[in-house]
Parts: sequence; C-alpha cells; structure tokens
Amino acid sequence: MTQIKNICCIGAGYVGGPTMAVIAQKCPEIEVTVVDINEERIAAWNDEDVENIPIYEPGLSAVVKEARGRNLFFSTNVDAAIDKADMIFISVNTPTKTYGIGKGMAADLKFIELCARQIARVSRTDKIVVEKSTLPVRTAEALKNILDNTGNGVNYQILSNPEFLAEGTAVDDLVNPDRVLIGGDIDTERGKDAVEALVDVYAHWVPRERLLTTNVWSSELSKLTANAFLAQRVSSINAMSELCEKTGADVNEVAKAVGMDSRIGPKFLKSSVGFGGSCFQKDILNLVYISKSFGLNEVADYWEQVILMNDHQKRRFAAKMVQTLFNTVSGKKIALLGWAFKKDTNDTRESAAIYVADYLLNEQAEIVVYDPKVKTEQIYADLDYLNTRTSEENRTRVKVVDTPYEATKDAHAVTLLTEWDEFMELDWKRIYDEMLKPAFLFDGRRLLERKTKEEIGFEFYAIGS
Ligand code: UDX
Ligand code: UDX
Repeated sequence: MTQIKNICCIGAGYVGGPTMAVIAQKCPEIEVTVVDINEERIAAWNDEDVENIPIYEPGLSAVVKEARGRNLFFSTNVDAAIDKADMIFISVNTPTKTYGIGKGMAADLKFIELCARQIARVSRTDKIVVEKSTLPVRTAEALKNILDNTGNGVNYQILSNPEFLAEGTAVDDLVNPDRVLIGGDIDTERGKDAVEALVDVYAHWVPRERLLTTNVWSSELSKLTANAFLAQRVSSINAMSELCEKTGADVNEVAKAVGMDSRIGPKFLKSSVGFGGSCFQKDILNLVYISKSFGLNEVADYWEQVILMNDHQKRRFAAKMVQTLFNTVSGKKIALLGWAFKKDTNDTRESAAIYVADYLLNEQAEIVVYDPKVKTEQIYADLDYLNTRTSEENRTRVKVVDTPYEATKDAHAVTLLTEWDEFMELDWKRIYDEMLKPAFLFDGRRLLERKTKEEIGFEFYAIGS
C-alpha cells in the first residue's frame, strides 16, 4: 500500500485549515503543507501569535500551536507543495455561479479546474488527488479528464472525501467524527490502494468501523444529501414556527415533543430566523440544478422548496419587526446583536443577519451591529455584496460597535440574530432602561426563553411563539 509521507492541501480556508491542522496533529510522521493564493491569509496562519490565525474555531489555535513548524506548514508556494506531495487535497471554495448558464444555482468549478491544471502542470510523480470541497456529482470525472490529458504521464487517483465538519465545532467534529467517507475507484487495484492510503491516514485516530468506503459518485452525492436533509429539518421546523404563531402552539414545545420520538431525534429542530452558512443553500441549489439537468423536475422542485421556505422565514421575521414597530422603521435605530451565521464562528456567509439588515435598510432604518467575532469590514463587505445600495450608503446607515450596550442605547428595537452564549448573560434590564420606549425585542434564536416580559420590560417577540 502507498504510504503517505507528504500531504499538500490547496485552500487554507474554513475547511482546509482546520482539517489539515488535525491531520498534522494526529499524524506527526506526515508532513502537511497548506497552500493558498491569498498571501494575507497565509501570513495570518503563520502569525507568531497563534491567536491571530485567520479562522476562529474553539480549540483550533492549540492544535496549530502544537503542529505548526513541526509537520504543519502554511505557504503560498503552491507548485513546490504539489511537487513534493504524495496526496493533494483540494479545499478551494466552490461558490454558486454568478454568471452564465446555471447562474444562481450551479457550483462554479473555476477554482477546482485551475487547481487540476496546476497539478497536471507541476506533477512529476504519482499523486492521489482528494476532493475535499463539496462538488456536484461526477466532478471527479472532470478532474480525472484534465489530469490524464494534460499531465506528464503521471498516474492520478481521484478520491472523494467530503467534509462533514460544522463551523464552531470543527475541531471536535474532526477529532471525533460520526463517520469519514472515502469514495474511490474501488473496482481497480490502484483505486483500492489509494482509498487504503487515505483510510490509513484517518485510522491514526478514527476507529476503523467509522471509515466508510464507497464508489466516488456515492461519496459525492452523500455529502449533498446530508446537507439537504439537515437544511430540510430546519426549514420544516421553521414552517411550523409560523403556524405556531397563528395557533398559540409553541415551536420549542412542538420540537421537543417531536424530537423525543427516537425515529425523528432531537437535533436540528431549533427554529430560527433562517439557516445560513456556506453550504446548505449552495449544496441544495446544486442538487436542484443537477436534478433539473437530468429532467427530474419533481425532485428539483421538492428540494428547492427548502430554500424558498428559508427565504420566506428571513423575510417574514424582518417584516414582523416593521409591522410591530407601527408599520415604519424609517429613521429608527435598530440594534442587531449577532452577525455570524451561527455562534462560535466568525464566518458570515449567507448569514440571516445580512438579509434582515438589508430588508430593514430598504425600509430606511438606521442599523447598529454588534458581533463578538465578526470584523467591521466583513459586515460592510457582506452588505456591499448584495449590491442593493452604494457602499457609501451602507457605511453611513450601518454602524458597527464594540459592545452590545453601545448598540442598544437609544434604540427603538433590538434583535437577536446569532445565538452567542454571551447574549444570554447580558444585563437586559439595563438594555431596556437605556432604550427608547416602547422598547421592542425580537428574538430570532429563542435565546431568552426564561426571561419573561415582566422580568425585562420589553415588548417581546420570539420566533414560533
Ligand atoms: C469550503 C469548501 O471547500 C466548499 O466546497 C464548501 O462547500 C464550503 O467550504 P471554505 O474552506 O469554507 O470552502 O472556503 P474558503 O474559506 O473560502 O477557503 C478557500 C480558500 O481557497 C481561500 O483561502 C482561497 O484563497 C483559496 N483558493 C481559492 C486558492 O488557494 N486557489 C484558488 O484557485 C482558489
Ligand atoms: C453544515 C453541516 O452541518 C456540516 O456537516 C457540513 O459539512 C457543512 O454545513 P455549518 O454550515 O457549519 O455545517 O453549520 P450548521 O451547524 O449545520 O448550521 C447551519 C445553519 O443552520 C446555521 O445558520 C444554524 O444556525 C442553522 N440551524 C441549525 C438552525 O437554524 N436550527 C437548527 O436546529 C440547526
């Protein structure tokens, strides 16, 4: 069996960074080099103060501290790392296409293809290429085509090894995974050998029975399916939240009652202002696009509804705010607590907060944002990306502050959009006292369950109750 001595990972992002850090920590005899074209990002990964690495994940800096400089390296020299490696992970981003055919739906595979061409150009020895990025089914075939036809007679094996880590718990998900999926060309000796080589890497710390091997297509499709099912649960409970508000049922009570059925299970039944993150929407859109391209319109429509429900939930929440504030928020100061798409991450991709803010800005509100981990520039970049108004206007109408109390002082309303633990510990009495009256609180995360209206004074709206 091929013994892996050198690993290269292209893409030092939310997936590549933590995954490689854990592999390096658990496999001290393997040299792991993470490369990226973004010099600033690599410089941050190499920052002397390990707390300054570019991705915030609980426990990650300790892992990086242990392995960096020993067998974990971060570099912008992509060619050198490819040349040296026996195994190359591709962890570059695959955003939804913003142009041409499949615009707004299909995954943009431009970066993946560039990686493949670079690997083909540089490689002089056999390589195992591992798809880590989430990809449409049958991407491996395209990769193989490029590698085999533009290479130097080098043998390439393509594996699919999708990532199931969730942000905020990435290190724990990597150290104790429910399962690791490895798809490969298991009908050939070389394919089997490549699969075994990767199994051997993970077997350093993952029990063998949790290492699942499949053919490449099953592995690719399993990733999309897992994310679609998870997102579907959130949209299902969010659909119920609207019904609860009309009927006097409470969505948390419903979720608990339903989740205690062991066939259903309790996880991913928390109603919210809408799911965000880089994966759910993108992967479902991908699934919809693939289904349509095979003429499977009913399948496509079924999954598209999960996204439509999510869009509705975000809009409905923002509309509820406007309606409650006497049908106008024009010129009113609204405090947004939380910008990240969930707690314990500084990632904001597709965060519901962006869409709620945009809706309120369209209604001419003045927005003040506080988030414990998201940088000011990121918040403006997220709003600019929507292209709804000029970046000057975004900077005038949206303020970003360093404490929650600055955000809420003299505000007409406050809304909780990320479930940061610290929001539960805030002095809500003080917040109420310092706001304009009547003061309104909109809880998009059901964080303040036990704090009654009498306790904190607010007019209180919590999603699904
Ligand atoms: C990942 C996955 O790879 C994606 O498929 C999944 O669905 C979402 O998460 P992530 O690690 O979160 O992506 O993306 P990001 O943090 O944007 O990191 C990707 C990195 O790749 C960036 O730092 C970018 O600079 C780098 N990159 C991109 C390259 O080094 N080369 C390229 O050609 C393109
Ligand atoms: C997800 C998958 O969980 C992970 O396996 C995959 O590899 C990448 O996509 P991630 O996007 O990091 O991970 O976060 P996740 O915890 O799944 O949450 C996604 C969104 O759903 C967040 O906005 C979260 O707040 C929301 N959510 C989640 C709910 O609104 N309710 C829930 O009950 C669970």
